[in-house]
Amino acid sequence: MPKAYIAGTGSCLPETVLTNRDMEVMVDTTDEWIVTRTGIKERRICPRGMASSDLGQLACRKALEDASADPSEIEFIISATVSPDMFFPSTACLIQSKLGIRNIPVFDLSAACSGFIYALETARNFIECGSYRTGLVVANECMSRLTDYKDRGTCVLLGDGAGAAVVRSTEGEAGLMGSYISADGNYREILNAPAGGSYMPASFETVENRCHFMKMEGAALFKIAIMSMSEAVNKLLESHGLKKDDITLLIPHQANLRIIQGVARNLRIKEGKFYINIEKYGNMSAACVPVALDESNRKGILGKGDLLMTVSFGGGLTWGANLIKWTKDRK
Ligand code: ACO
Repeated sequence: MPKAYIAGTGSCLPETVLTNRDMEVMVDTTDEWIVTRTGIKERRICPRGMASSDLGQLACRKALEDASADPSEIEFIISATVSPDMFFPSTACLIQSKLGIRNIPVFDLSAACSGFIYALETARNFIECGSYRTGLVVANECMSRLTDYKDRGTCVLLGDGAGAAVVRSTEGEAGLMGSYISADGNYREILNAPAGGSYMPASFETVENRCHFMKMEGAALFKIAIMSMSEAVNKLLESHGLKKDDITLLIPHQANLRIIQGVARNLRIKEGKFYINIEKYGNMSAACVPVALDESNRKGILGKGDLLMTVSFGGGLTWGANLIKWTKDRK
């Protein structure tokens, strides 16, 4: 049976920076509140005229370059996003077209902040079943388009960005070793964007009542996030007969620094083992994990043979983790 590994990574962060000081003039908040309660100092904002697929396409190009792969080698594209350019065609179709690739299967995957983890697990299965040899997994999010900049409880958290990975097959050792993914739709009310779909179609009232923006019960989510991410790490370690010490680096979703610290405490894993970049980008939903993965790759933090674990949670609720053996040489 073929195995799958990550052959290259890429990311794209829009140039426009929205700092906490900028937010102070938009809503009743302070830099001090945001930093102490979340760890976030600034976030990136996608300019008008650009959308999720543009960020995704640029991240894919960098991942292709890192993998020394040509777009013509790509046999499938999975785009994880909750901020698609439009309902349809899928963002994956738009990325495919922008990359100049034709006649391959491409689709969007909706699992909110856990999207990249779900997509990587889907790609692993595509490759292990022997049908495909090379694919692109990309998470592209323009969360600023779903953000209510009058709601101080959510607007300070979110930012835009994209991250991608080229996934290849090998007859050798597995790079993508396995995953744990789960969901519970009973928690649908605590994190959602209620309007604009078939349940509450766009209308004058939905716009006036700001129902197209993300709504969140932050305090409830905070506790569930720590529990669900800890559960995903423990279950994945257990299913592979591994100990916490075997893991070289944990790449967590970047929703709140205090959530990451809570997971570290819960798991009794040193905070230093977690890759943290929340101060620069805030919560980019599904894009957090692949952007952090790309930074770890490019900064030379990852070396051949290292064991990584990604872990995330998000709207749905969804949560999960990937176990990855890094097969590339340190940069
Ligand atoms: N600036 C100043 N004060 C604020 C702000 C702000 N930006 N936001 C909230 N407050 C106030 C509240 O109104 C509240 O005031 P009150 O006591 O007078 O009512 C006070 O600060 C405390 O509010 P809490 O909600 O208790 O603050 P908390 O310490 O819990 O932090 C936060 C709030 C940051 C939202 C936290 O609950 C959190 O991170 N939750 C999880 C968020 C998350 O994981 N989101 C992921 C989903 S996003 C996605 O999936 C795309």
